[in-house]
Amino acid sequence: MSVLRTKTVEAIKSDAAGGDGDGEGSGLRKTLRTRDLVGFGVGIVIGTGIFTLTGIQAKENAGPAVVVSFLIAGLVSMLAALCYAELASAVPTAGSAYTYAYATLGEVFAWIIGWDLVLEFALGAAVVARSWSGYLADLFGLPPSLFTEESTVNIGAVAIVLVLGVIAAVGVKESARVTNTLVLVKVAISVFIIIVGAFFMKKANLLPFIPSAEATTTKVNTIDQPLLQWLGGFEPATFGVSGLFTAAAVVFFAYTGFEAVANLSEETRNPARDIPRALLIVLGLCTTLYVMVAFVVTGMQKYTDLDSSAPIAKAFDANNASWAGTFVAIAAVAGLTSVILVDIIAMSRIGFALGRDGLLPQSVAKSSPRFGTPFRFTVGTTIFVAILAGLVPLTDLSEMVSIGTLFAFLIVSIAVPILRRTKPDLKRPFRVPLSPIVPILSALACIYLMLNLVVGTWLRFLVWLVLGMVIYLGYGRRHARLAAKIVDLPTSAEATKSTE
Ligand code: ALA
Repeated sequence: MSVLRTKTVEAIKSDAAGGDGDGEGSGLRKTLRTRDLVGFGVGIVIGTGIFTLTGIQAKENAGPAVVVSFLIAGLVSMLAALCYAELASAVPTAGSAYTYAYATLGEVFAWIIGWDLVLEFALGAAVVARSWSGYLADLFGLPPSLFTEESTVNIGAVAIVLVLGVIAAVGVKESARVTNTLVLVKVAISVFIIIVGAFFMKKANLLPFIPSAEATTTKVNTIDQPLLQWLGGFEPATFGVSGLFTAAAVVFFAYTGFEAVANLSEETRNPARDIPRALLIVLGLCTTLYVMVAFVVTGMQKYTDLDSSAPIAKAFDANNASWAGTFVAIAAVAGLTSVILVDIIAMSRIGFALGRDGLLPQSVAKSSPRFGTPFRFTVGTTIFVAILAGLVPLTDLSEMVSIGTLFAFLIVSIAVPILRRTKPDLKRPFRVPLSPIVPILSALACIYLMLNLVVGTWLRFLVWLVLGMVIYLGYGRRHARLAAKIVDLPTSAEATKSTE
């Protein structure tokens, strides 16, 4: 009963062919092309990161150099995307990173990734809900004490999570067409910000581009210090080059979600060609837009004056262009809604996958016959998300998402050279160039950004992992289908799962 047992690539592939991923037992229809994948990817990726974190990170850690932070985070994501692309083309499956880990590193790692992804999407939804609430308050002049980062309990964030959680629980058909429309809104508004905002830029606002490091007055607690700073025994400080990297680790959040494109492999006509292409296009597009928006916004208003809840809209207000600010706020509220919904849906799909493999109790994670969704899991996690969205500051939450995602990327990067060694003959329509150098670089870059997150984030992440290990050792290890070798499964493929 080894915790390192692996699921064979053949079993994964025939699981995908048997297709119980959509809960209908008939396989997923292969309809998506590169264009749809790009639409879906951009739809998930563009959100709070650019609409809200730009302001907070420029103000607290990087100054105008937040532009460079976005570039660094984009490059790290690009390296990970290459690794995702190889695995997704070789093992097209809806399970993505979780399944790759099951095939390469073993069950316990797969569980950790699955557990970690629940965290990423659950907290992602909470972060975006807070940011949504901030823009809503800006739009309608709602009381900051109930709707913004100043609130004790953010009512707006709780409300939107509950509403979208109910929609996700009773079943929603995520159609590529709806997503594409919202994507157009988000891309259009980003281009609008860049073009219109450029007229309000002042050189003085961009200087000093990298504000010199200063001893921090607010971050006196160890838990508020980046781990690297704490390990190195440096005095707590913000700004300077180290502030720029801290900001990169936090704004990394802005790129999270792109890997969900790999989850659509089973529904893509030609995954070997289209998934790698789509991943790289999504990241290229988002990196370009982010860097330009960050540059324009920090040029429009002095970084010290940027708002924490709705920085872009307020930057227009500060330049007497409230009409443009209103326009941005409307687009942000619309665009962010879809991110929250997709995050909740993605989270419940992972719960469903974990339940299917027996790592979570079927009673919790199975698909409800009435709604055709993992109803109980969705409702339970939505309540958890709503509580977090109501109470925890946006930065703390987004750092948790960053660390969780970086950890998943780390495992995916390591999985590439491992799978090349254990399965040298597997057909890999897309190959990471210069492997193992690029996967190793990707892994190191992820570790470096993780080290730039604060001690408190590491502690919370460790607590989450320990909780996950307790559940795995107490339940999943014994109930995993691989352990039981249960053969009366819905697809014949399940019976071929083996221990290695
Ligand atoms: N990347 C998404 C965002 O920035 C989660 O909102």
